Amino acid sequence: MSNAPHFGSHPMFQGFGRPVRQEVDLRDCEVEGQIPPELEGSFYRVGPDYQYPPRLPNIPFDGEGHLCLFRFSGGRVDFRSRYVHTERYMAQAAAGRALYGTYRNPFTDEPAVAALSRGTANTNVFHHHGKLMVLKEDSPPVVVNPHTLETLDPVYRFGGQLTAETFTAHPKLDSDTGEMLGIAYEAKGLGSCDVACYSFNAQGQKTWEAWVKVPYAGMLHDFAVTRSYIAFLVVPMVTDIERMRAGHVHFAWDSTLPTWLGVLRRGGDGSDIRWFKGPERCATHVMGAFEDGTRLSIDMDMGLKNQFPFFPQRDDSPFDPVAAQGHVVRLSVDLANKLRPGYDMETLYPHSGVLSRQDDRYHSVAYDVGFMPTLDMTAPFDARLAAALPFRPLNHWTRFDHSRRAATSWFVGPDSGVQEACFVPRNASAAEGEGYLIGVVNRFLEMRNDLVVLDAQRLNEGPIATVRMPTRLPAQVHGWWVPGTVVPATRL
Ligand SMILES: [Fe+2]
Repeated sequence: MSNAPHFGSHPMFQGFGRPVRQEVDLRDCEVEGQIPPELEGSFYRVGPDYQYPPRLPNIPFDGEGHLCLFRFSGGRVDFRSRYVHTERYMAQAAAGRALYGTYRNPFTDEPAVAALSRGTANTNVFHHHGKLMVLKEDSPPVVVNPHTLETLDPVYRFGGQLTAETFTAHPKLDSDTGEMLGIAYEAKGLGSCDVACYSFNAQGQKTWEAWVKVPYAGMLHDFAVTRSYIAFLVVPMVTDIERMRAGHVHFAWDSTLPTWLGVLRRGGDGSDIRWFKGPERCATHVMGAFEDGTRLSIDMDMGLKNQFPFFPQRDDSPFDPVAAQGHVVRLSVDLANKLRPGYDMETLYPHSGVLSRQDDRYHSVAYDVGFMPTLDMTAPFDARLAAALPFRPLNHWTRFDHSRRAATSWFVGPDSGVQEACFVPRNASAAEGEGYLIGVVNRFLEMRNDLVVLDAQRLNEGPIATVRMPTRLPAQVHGWWVPGTVVPATRL
């Protein structure tokens, strides 16, 4: 019998979810419409793509990082995709099979890989201090060449300055100084309650470090930053060591636990952190955050309960898809009020969705415009797709203008679905939200993807340009735009 890889009949590996595995160089992609001349730069996107069939039952999030680059130059688009050569990827490539067990569970790994980084580099990509970093929040960044996508440093510790064992997949930019801010959770090892906060200047020198402890260890996927504060919401997606020892994935949802919003002053030592208690909620991504006097507000897409069907309930109760639906919720606290023990919540829009984004020039200052893939259950749905998919895909990109409480959407079509969108300013001095919304959409029936470009101020008018891909691309978790003024937009 052959020992060549075969993914078999597991539902996770069928249809559009089947691993892509091919690394592609495609020069002069087919384009319908006109690529705007100002769109000069690189759109990087990354997601999990299984290198080898996993040894144990596993989840989509544990595939190896597969990085894609759409290079926009002079109205043309070139495409390149490469696996990130993490220590884990290289060890498995040498062995010709999976050596790691299940998602973020070192107890299930083969002993030979114990000294290697477990990081898959499959969650986000970010450019700062001249380095393109591919990120997974359980490990340090991986640095890759921004043109060839060749891996340059599989375990980048900021030149020895990273004191934590991990680093966030959602760094932020200080809108005034250009500093990069990041947190690290489980920062002193598996299941630790230690969180480190950092900032690095434009040269990559560490300008701030503070350590705090969270009330319980769990997923701390994203955080908020303003001029004065860093804040994060601890949700009951807990790190469950006992279940991990029994072979399960890293996280489980514990409905008995409250949420905690932690707020600490930037530049301090962390001892001023304040905790504001809230009810059971699941919130993964920050759309934006701002200060108004002593009031701090953080907008997140938030569901009532566990939003990840593949992370089990700690009490073994069934996943609740209705309670999982996310809405844009504004969490706020008055920091002058020493008596109020909790945070306030306001749902801003009726739209349901996930993967919030904003104009990335506004991470740390008052913002008005957000974007989110949304699901409108009343939109037309192709019957063939309805029969083939276990769930209904996100079908709109929606722009939110908070000051007007207005929402505008683009519908991808009854036979397609949207992935995360990324905002690109028209130019460096463009107003907030003036530019393009770009991202990849799924053409399920054709088993391939497109990249679409929309005018971010006229989403309802549909794509200005569609980069028609002849093949299916690795699924995206997150993407990041780097203008040609930062990484030259040379043809690939
Ligand atoms: Fe994320």
